Amino acid sequence: MNEIRKDFPSLGQTNRDKPLVYLDSAATSLTPNQVIQSELEYYEKYRGSVHRSVYELGEKATNAFENSRKRIAKLIGASEKSIVFTKSATESINLVAESWGYNNLSKNDVVLLTDMEHHSNIIPWQMICKKTGAKIKYLKSSSDGTIDVDKFKNALDKNIKMVSITHASNVFGTINPVKEFVNLAHKNGSKIMLDGCQAIPHMKVSVEELGCDFYAFSGHKMLGPTGVGVLYGKEELLDKMEPYQTGGGIIKTVTMENSSWTSIPHKFEPGTPMIAQVIALSPAADYLENCLESHDNKLMEYAIEKMNSINGISIYGDAKDRTPILSFNIEGVHSLDLAHFLDFEGITIRSGHHCCQPLMQALDISACARASFYFYNTFSEVDFLVEKINKAIQVIK
Ligand SMILES: Cc1ncc(COP(=O)(O)O)c(C=O)c1O
Repeated sequence: MNEIRKDFPSLGQTNRDKPLVYLDSAATSLTPNQVIQSELEYYEKYRGSVHRSVYELGEKATNAFENSRKRIAKLIGASEKSIVFTKSATESINLVAESWGYNNLSKNDVVLLTDMEHHSNIIPWQMICKKTGAKIKYLKSSSDGTIDVDKFKNALDKNIKMVSITHASNVFGTINPVKEFVNLAHKNGSKIMLDGCQAIPHMKVSVEELGCDFYAFSGHKMLGPTGVGVLYGKEELLDKMEPYQTGGGIIKTVTMENSSWTSIPHKFEPGTPMIAQVIALSPAADYLENCLESHDNKLMEYAIEKMNSINGISIYGDAKDRTPILSFNIEGVHSLDLAHFLDFEGITIRSGHHCCQPLMQALDISACARASFYFYNTFSEVDFLVEKINKAIQVIK
């Protein structure tokens, strides 16, 4: 464990002059040296633009950029052509909603979402539904934070053209039975997109095995740099879609009146891309694959047991399959006050609606606290968290 922690320079830092206890990896993970060095190396050693320079440095940058695409394709069991680099999962979902949705949704069509979706997997669909006349239907999660397969099956009808659902919830931590969802959606004739933001950092994902049509995730939650996201799309679907944004680098020809597009995946990557970030995503994938089998689950079991001992605590979500996220409220203590209190003890947790206002409404709360763990967290950090929460309760109450 100490060896792993040494790879993360942030873990040696302080927060408000106290040793940092980082418990917000579901918002953004910390970054290992290997990723930081890779980004630095690009700026120091082969700074040049990609896909357009004939000089050596540009060629090196292009090779590193495209090698990263190969690496990410391998990480999720996809073909290179099906991997589009975006600036975030948010952009990936917007791309599908807008570009697929514009030509495939119309009045009477329905997009099926769930009440546990992140705003990034709600608002893009609201926007395209306004433009096309399609409607959104929401599937409600159960009180333990899960979505029952039969309930999902019963919600499907012939008007549902797209299902967009999170692979793992950023509030409950629930890992949804997405393979079953994909099979059922396809039997119904619907396309299905998975939001993999919270799943990719914690589990091996093969889009080929899942069979989903689209899969979105962000680099910064999986040990990678900020400013880079990934969209996987089935080649035959991406081929038929129009670019989401346009500009240089994506064209076959441009006349004064019209333009035609290059092939996938570059058709969806206009302008100078986030070169350093894409390149550094490759060592992030290497690091991640080596750590997937680490102690996430044991730490989570320990955290649940310890947190349950806190007086007045309500923990949201009780799924058997879950990522190491613990969302909770404590009677008489506002989550924001708790987060502020812990901040001054060096502990970083998140408080608020977690970009899930519809879920907060369904839970009948306005906000909650969330501690999220990763393989670089320790059992003693969990103990420290619980000790300081108990102290916060005494002080705030
Ligand atoms: C489940 C889920 N979906 C989507 C997003 C949006 O990711 P990003 O802000 O990196 O685009 C997040 C980020 O918190 C998330 O947790």
